[in-house]
Amino acid sequence: MKHLFFLLVPLFLLGETTFITPIEYASQLYKNPRGIGCQHCHGNKGEGKIIANYIDKKVEKSFGGPVINKLDFQKFYTALNVRKQGMPRYFLTDREIQALYLYLHPTEIKSNKKELSKQKQSVQNVK
Ligand code: HEC
Repeated sequence: MKHLFFLLVPLFLLGETTFITPIEYASQLYKNPRGIGCQHCHGNKGEGKIIANYIDKKVEKSFGGPVINKLDFQKFYTALNVRKQGMPRYFLTDREIQALYLYLHPTEIKSNKKELSKQKQSVQNVK
């Protein structure tokens, strides 16, 4: 009987793992945001990425997504709410944008607990 108890406990704990942490959620959203994943153009951590090099009128050029893990929230939020050349238009909610920002700037937020309320403030300013 005692053994059965110990067998049931891990099963119960397994059920708990269906809840994901905010960082896991943000990471999944970044890679699968109701459209092409951000990492294809901006790299896994938003470090920027070159997708193609090409020659245009004899001048070497490259196409890719810029670095997006060192932006302030205002700039990040605005970029996702306007038309950007070379980037698909996403229709993300404010919370989704906040989650993505958190994913790309984790240390900034950890070191400054007021960051989230500051973010909410700047969302209001953009609107
Ligand atoms: C098909 C490639 C592509 C995908 C996918 C893409 N982007 Fe971009 N993104 C770009 C390009 C190219 C630019 C630069 C546009 C410009 O300079 O006007 C850009 C610009 C940005 C900027 C503004 C950067 C700045 O310095 O102002 C942000 C923020 C951004 N992207 C976030 C995202 C997020 C978040 C996702 C996923 C939801 C995403 N992008 C998906 C190509 C892409």
